[in-house]
Amino acid sequence: MEDTSELDIRLVPSHIAIIMDGNGRWAEERRRPRLAGHKAGVDSVRAVVETAREIGVRHLTLYAFSTENWQRPKAEVKGLMALLRTYLEAELRTMLTNDIRLFCLGQRERLPRDVLAVLEQVMRETAHCRAMTLNLALSYGGRNEMIRAIRKMAVKCKDGQFDPEDLSEEILAEHLDTAGQPDPDLLIRTGGEHRLSNFLLWQVSYAELYFTETKWPDFRKQQLLEAVATYGRRQRRFGKTGAQVRGE
Ligand code: FPP
Repeated sequence: MEDTSELDIRLVPSHIAIIMDGNGRWAEERRRPRLAGHKAGVDSVRAVVETAREIGVRHLTLYAFSTENWQRPKAEVKGLMALLRTYLEAELRTMLTNDIRLFCLGQRERLPRDVLAVLEQVMRETAHCRAMTLNLALSYGGRNEMIRAIRKMAVKCKDGQFDPEDLSEEILAEHLDTAGQPDPDLLIRTGGEHRLSNFLLWQVSYAELYFTETKWPDFRKQQLLEAVATYGRRQRRFGKTGAQVRGE
């Protein structure tokens, strides 16, 4: 399905989160360096951001670099950081034109200084944009995010701002990096693996999961539309019966 006019707008997820996997294998299959896979992956990022915006997705979260990814060979980390910087510099104008706000999840202070500077500049300049929020998960880990949230709450409890008895799911959610944003409705993982890999562990509790063999550099407009169409055919029950959801 290439034609977006066929999509039922009510069935477009408000928040899509994506684990972009398979860049390395895509490159290896072509006997090219892994970084060539990441480079092609940036073109997929562009295509997916554009399509998501076009079909009315309000929040798009991309797992671009995990806390564990720091352990990759130095040259690969350096290459990924350079790609990220170039992407941010090149896309600022497009984000502004398309009313896309850039936001970052994770420990961004661990990023190299030059990348952090560009990232914060793009975040600042797009802060007023409202049509879609693009969250880049950078130096991100779900368990790390929860621990940081718990620490913030513990400090508030110590200061007397909260009573531990009052802590709730809503209050925890407000201390996560995704504070103020809805949970993902649809989680996509490319590259054939069926794991969460420490991504948005709290937030994906009720997300529909969509796994595809397609490696990230081959995941473009058509593949995103297929995932969204599959999501639209599923019935989300949130623990209720089918009859309850249909209002019977
Ligand atoms: C997983 O593939 C992908 C990554 C670790 C990084 C994703 C990064 C990009 C798509 C490019 C930069 C991002 C932005 C937002 C501009 P892998 O290397 O784990 O693949 P493999 O499992 O086949 O080895």
